[in-house]
Amino acid sequence: MAGAYAGSRGNMHFYLIVGIAALGGLLFGYDTGVISGALLFIRTDFALSPFMQGLVVAIALVGAATGAAVAGGLSDRFGRRTVILVTGIIFVLGSLVAALAPDLWVLILGRLLVGVGIGVASMLTPLYLAETAPAKHRGALVSLSQLAITIGILVSYLVDTIFAQGGQWRWMLGLGAVPGLILALGMLVLPETPRWLAGHGRLEEAGQVLRRLRGTADIEAELTELRTDLRREGKLPGWGELLDPIVRRPLIVGIGLAIFQQVTGINTVIYFAPTIFQAAGFSSASTAILATSGVGVVNVLMTLVAIQLIDRAGRRALLLTGLAGMGVCLLLLALGFLIGSSSPALGWITAVSLAGYVGFFAIGLGPVFWLLIAEIFPLYFRGRAMGAAAISNWGFNLLVSVTFLNMIELFGRPGTFLVYAVLTAGAFVFTWVLVPETKGRSLEQIEADLHRQAVS
Ligand code: BGC
Repeated sequence: MAGAYAGSRGNMHFYLIVGIAALGGLLFGYDTGVISGALLFIRTDFALSPFMQGLVVAIALVGAATGAAVAGGLSDRFGRRTVILVTGIIFVLGSLVAALAPDLWVLILGRLLVGVGIGVASMLTPLYLAETAPAKHRGALVSLSQLAITIGILVSYLVDTIFAQGGQWRWMLGLGAVPGLILALGMLVLPETPRWLAGHGRLEEAGQVLRRLRGTADIEAELTELRTDLRREGKLPGWGELLDPIVRRPLIVGIGLAIFQQVTGINTVIYFAPTIFQAAGFSSASTAILATSGVGVVNVLMTLVAIQLIDRAGRRALLLTGLAGMGVCLLLLALGFLIGSSSPALGWITAVSLAGYVGFFAIGLGPVFWLLIAEIFPLYFRGRAMGAAAISNWGFNLLVSVTFLNMIELFGRPGTFLVYAVLTAGAFVFTWVLVPETKGRSLEQIEADLHRQAVS
């Protein structure tokens, strides 16, 4: 894929940019995954009530929603690069504050800061990639950030396992400072995106950056497209203009997918897999954690498959296949729990259907959501509109995470997974009817389509 940025000097930038994608996503995955293991020790050290434990987990999600809320506007104004750089520093600060926390409230402050970093990284990493990648490889390149998220989650499970022996939760949380620092330093050498520069009247710099990114490749066609695109644009709009018909349809798609990505239940598995496995009969903690790592590996591998397919099969095909598969696995899971824990088959049904569910999420809804929200909005509104989708994603992540255990009390396990299955069917219909195909089209062509649809 190194050819994606063409030319030999272009390759150098390619690796740097992939590195940034890896770090932004890695931090997102690591910092969301790490708390599940760390919590086991934090709750003893600080004698936390169940409510306070919930707060320690949820506060990062609150931070993430806040980060996503401000990242769009800030990055439209100050540039993608500057905001990602500052985010790297926030990750370092937050990780250190949490790791060195003398008491609960300082710990919560640290996790809140880390959460803000996660929220910003979750949207600016794919946005940065989408705005620097050439059209025909954009799907694969943007999906690298999802791959990094899944690797981050897996690494966090492994780090938790290693430090669990000594109960060293401070190390678990503190290690996030290292990739944060590299992210900040990395952004010092990476350029601002050509599209943001062009959008701010800095066409000459945009041309220089494009030339550097594409190496020897011909950039005239891309520059002309950028210019045409800009002629259609006005000044930076306010939030009120979210109702502009050109933004409305992509906004419904972006926010709809954001909500469906969460309400179909992925993070009940990512955050609570050991609990689910224990309930299914893998009673020892170590077997449950091992099974969880297995799920983490499936998540990474299937994201790799998605990256191979996304620019060939297209976004819609992956989304629809993924959603159909997730639905079937959720039904199996519900059925497994309905048969009851008395059956020895349950453990295996659970393991296979959970792995299948995560695998199908990883080839569809996981990468395609973050990719589409970097693609479908017009340039002048991209940062803000992506922000709106990302806030919804984090808000519903919070909602699902805090209600999961209550849902189980209320509906039982079979009922809970059935609810997620029904919501998955809803996501399938939503995708079928509303989600556009963006494979192989430049961001400017996608935008031109929107203008055509809005006036017709
Ligand atoms: C989602 C996260 C989820 C992760 C799992 C991401 O696309 O936004 O909420 O934890 O995928 O791989």
